[in-house]
Amino acid sequence: MIPAPEIRIAPSILSADFARLGEEVTALDSAGADYIHVDVMDGHYVPNLTIGPGVVKALRPHSAKIFDVHLMISPADPFIEAFAAAGADIITIHPEAGPHFHRTLQVIRGLGKKAGVALNPGTATGVLDHVMDLVDLVLVMTVNPGFGGQAYISVPDKIADVRRRIAATGREIDLEVDGGINPDTAREVIKAGANVLVAGTAVFKDGPARYADHIRAIRGG
Ligand code: DX5
Ligand code: ZN
Repeated sequence: MIPAPEIRIAPSILSADFARLGEEVTALDSAGADYIHVDVMDGHYVPNLTIGPGVVKALRPHSAKIFDVHLMISPADPFIEAFAAAGADIITIHPEAGPHFHRTLQVIRGLGKKAGVALNPGTATGVLDHVMDLVDLVLVMTVNPGFGGQAYISVPDKIADVRRRIAATGREIDLEVDGGINPDTAREVIKAGANVLVAGTAVFKDGPARYADHIRAIRGG
């Protein structure tokens, strides 16, 4: 029996001040963030454009915390190596974003990085059936990907289903949720089985002096 995992908070720098990104990452690190969540968007897989491997590389010296890179790009394969070299620790992909996501997971693992699979609200958990041995993290989206600040989509049964699948492997695999997470919705997803909580708006809303308070509140006091 694997003990209940500790709750980790992964602030999304999508809600940071992009003119001061390095300082923002340092501030999150000091405020108690466990992972630094980096949302990469290509204007194609999702209707928004954000940052590339060059920015990840520039941010890397600003924190020793885990860089949790969420790729919302299609295809992802041509960029995996660049994000790995830039300093990503976890690289998460969307199965719809390429024709062979099993191969993409193999490539991520082959580069010595942790591999994640993200499930959109409309993506069934069955997509995990034949890849769990290649997975270190499952990301359950609680919004449709593309923007911060969207309304939370409640999927506790889906999170519980993923938690059962993780338990069946006997391995430690992160169950991350992303979208509309605040101290209230955090309670629901933790109860359902999530252990890594991404939060953008709820961490950044009051400026750097409050990051630590908000991270603590999302974690549960
Ligand atoms: C959405 C991103 C999320 C987003 C979360 O596509 O993957 O990480 O920034 O932002 P909030 O917490 O504001 O919903
Ligand atoms: Zn994300």
